[in-house]
Amino acid sequence: MIDSKLPGVGTTIFTRMSALANECGAINLSQGFPDFDAPQALLDAMSRHVLAGHNQYAPMAGLLSLREQIAAQLLLHRDVNCDPDSEITVVPGATEGIYCAVMACVARGDEVIVLDPCYDSYEPAITLAGGRAVHIPLALHSFGVDWQRVADAITPRTRLIMVNSPHNPCGVALSLEDMLQLQDLVERHNLLLISDEVYEHLVFDGRQHHSALQFPALRQRCFALFSFGKTYSVTGWKTGYCVAPPALTAELRKVHQFVCFVAVTPVQLAVADFMAAAPDYPATLAAFYQHKRDTFCSALRGSRFRVTPSAGTYFQLLDYSAISDAPDRELAEDWTRRHGIASIPISVFYEEPPQQHYLRFCFAKTDEVLLQVAERLCEI
Ligand SMILES: Cc1ncc(COP(=O)(O)O)c(C=O)c1O
Repeated sequence: MIDSKLPGVGTTIFTRMSALANECGAINLSQGFPDFDAPQALLDAMSRHVLAGHNQYAPMAGLLSLREQIAAQLLLHRDVNCDPDSEITVVPGATEGIYCAVMACVARGDEVIVLDPCYDSYEPAITLAGGRAVHIPLALHSFGVDWQRVADAITPRTRLIMVNSPHNPCGVALSLEDMLQLQDLVERHNLLLISDEVYEHLVFDGRQHHSALQFPALRQRCFALFSFGKTYSVTGWKTGYCVAPPALTAELRKVHQFVCFVAVTPVQLAVADFMAAAPDYPATLAAFYQHKRDTFCSALRGSRFRVTPSAGTYFQLLDYSAISDAPDRELAEDWTRRHGIASIPISVFYEEPPQQHYLRFCFAKTDEVLLQVAERLCEI
């Protein structure tokens, strides 16, 4: 036997809830993936490249043609300039990019500020790097950031802050004011930033996504992570990218080349083709997913849940405090078995879960499925 380096870590909640959903034949709104297919042109491009024999290693940093498309899209959608050669790295999923970024910049004894509830891959990466995660909870119910509390947690050992906007699991998004506060802190204390922006295009009700790349002082010290899985409805293709200034990118690539070395070749070719042919596609996502959010939330009007419509991502939190005061983990499992609906308890994303009663539902599903789930939820 070996001493575990991650003694507190078990199988992720996503794996557990999806397995339970399968076992019970429940509708699975737990794990975040669409139940509809990606654009046909993207699927066609993928099979074309596989059949054309593009099946060997790509360059370590990613195909240049894809990195050029990424740079063009960053300019188009965010008005951000970046150099495809020295600032963009294609990675096999944002998770790998986040892991490599943490490994690249966190040393033994460093402190890293994370905002709870936080995506479950962050802390294990910090721990494996020898660092310590310092958890700051988001505000109860509003899930806003208390920047004073973040500032108070900064010590001489603080090396890095990790943020995620739009936010999984809460469905909130950082405002311009939040970004300015973050920029001020990071600059004043000379910190690095990992900005997880995998849901960048999924923001609703006319909101704008604020990328860390758009703020000069953040841009200089930030690894920004994006996922084609989310943008193009191909989560199983596990491909994304990291944008960081040349010096940070060089360090990220040192780790990346020995963790995965490269991302998958035909996926990169297919995504590059699709981006070139449909550069405006990401701009269609907000309306598409807002409609799904509204379909789900409207159908819940007669229910006993308290619903604050999600501001971004494809997740909707439902407050079940009028129905039960059972812990969310217990309830998520019970409802999967009893009502045939699998969701995600959000307490698992906290170091110290507060007294609140929320379950997370993924609405990247067909309208029929969303209406069926809502009907069942209305009966609870
Ligand atoms: C907040 C957040 N970050 C990162 C990821 C990972 O993205 P990928 O599938 O590209 O690794 C996810 C996936 O669910 C996520 O929700």
